[in-house]
Amino acid sequence: MMNRKKALKALHDEIASCTRCSLHTSRTKAVPGEGPLDAKVMFIGEAPGAQEDMTGRPFVGRSGSLLTEMLNEIGLQREEVFITSVLKSRPPRNRTPHRDEIGKCMYFLDNQIEIVSPKIIVLLGSVAISSVIGPWRLSEAHGRFHEAKGLTYFLTYHPAAALRFPKTRALMHQDFQKLKAELR
Ligand code: URA
Repeated sequence: MMNRKKALKALHDEIASCTRCSLHTSRTKAVPGEGPLDAKVMFIGEAPGAQEDMTGRPFVGRSGSLLTEMLNEIGLQREEVFITSVLKSRPPRNRTPHRDEIGKCMYFLDNQIEIVSPKIIVLLGSVAISSVIGPWRLSEAHGRFHEAKGLTYFLTYHPAAALRFPKTRALMHQDFQKLKAELR
């Protein structure tokens, strides 16, 4: 068995050169995700946007700024959590990921979860929730913990939605307080 550090590096190298779906033809850089191997919390978004596609790093645009702000508010540093998305390549014009793209990409996320083995996996928004644990109505799901296959998930909104809707932003802040309480 490769050690975990080598396994994660190998996986991220594989993502960087992946051609499993057609998104590889339009992307600039693939975005594997980043964070420490021993992260207690993993955040999973939807797909890279323009900034992420340019830099190869997750959540570095406006959504990322809000995510970082919300992390800091509950006493977490961005550097201590693992941050990634369901898709590792940007969909053209940030369209919603297609089912087959999610299907082909999920291998990478499954392996990241297996290698990092976080205590809590935070699913940001409908695409992350439906891809990882199945469809839920976000209005009912948000702020909840969910156990499945020995993993603990926390369900909340995507920061892009919080940027658009003040009410969603307020609910997401409340959700993060619940996450904070669980992390104590
Ligand atoms: N939104 C996501 O879901 N992921 C990113 O990496 C950036 C924005």
